[in-house]
Amino acid sequence: MLPVAGLGTRFLPATKATAKEMLPVVDKPLIQYAIEEARAAGIEQFCMVTGRGKTALVEHFDIAFELEHTLRERNRTEALATLEATSVEPGSLVTVRQQVPHGLGHAIWCARAFVGDDPFAIILPDDLVLADKPCLAQLADAYLETGGNVVAVTEVPREHTNRYGILKVGKTEGRLVEVTGLVEKPAPENAPSNLSIIGRYVLLPEVITELARMERGAGNEVQLTDGMARLIGKQPFHGLLYEGRRFDCGDKIGFLEAQIAYALKRPDLAPAVQSFLKTYVR
Ligand code: G1P
Repeated sequence: MLPVAGLGTRFLPATKATAKEMLPVVDKPLIQYAIEEARAAGIEQFCMVTGRGKTALVEHFDIAFELEHTLRERNRTEALATLEATSVEPGSLVTVRQQVPHGLGHAIWCARAFVGDDPFAIILPDDLVLADKPCLAQLADAYLETGGNVVAVTEVPREHTNRYGILKVGKTEGRLVEVTGLVEKPAPENAPSNLSIIGRYVLLPEVITELARMERGAGNEVQLTDGMARLIGKQPFHGLLYEGRRFDCGDKIGFLEAQIAYALKRPDLAPAVQSFLKTYVR
């Protein structure tokens, strides 16, 4: 599931008439990274929780017949190839609308019919993870091992705990940590740890029942973190210290860093990027 109804206020004016998930890192929009990562974890059914002004996100995964036709006529095979990953199997992408901005938990609840009775995954496209094995596939493996709910976690500086969902941690075994509590955006002095949830989750469907209570949390929003917290003790709940580097693209600095990191991974761009970067570093 891909919650994409957010207004993107932190990226205004860029996001005035464009969905923030359409912002590119190098030459691919954030939403495409998310769909590709989901596919790499074996997911074949996608649900976007959208809102007003987000039509481009759905268009992006449709077949652009005229465009493909023109590219074929002009023998633009390379450009054509870039479009390959941008269409999905017929019927595999559905959308639901979150009509009111009541928070991430509310967005997930809006997709309850899509979730049904099965475990499901959530990717927040704002979070990019550069990794040898895609982050969601790592989570899926962890889920096969532990069952229950598994969220991807990383350490953040203490002063940033008020930006994220933060774990209270029990036993640790290798990269798996037992979650004994969850708090959404605690002030540094109240944070139970500096382990934060990033936008990758594998959850059991019971979380929907908890979200349906519509209890308001941090920012007066229905928080996914609060719904998940109610499952602790009833179902297994783990955090996975994934391997890879995360970029918070909801933040300007994180977004800019992602541009550099992803460009440096591209053989066609890396040499030029490296050489111009040198001119900025004193
Ligand atoms: C959301 C979640 C938060 C999580 C974060 C990861 O916050 O509510 O628990 O740590 O995503 O990026 P948001 O970024 O929507 O404020």
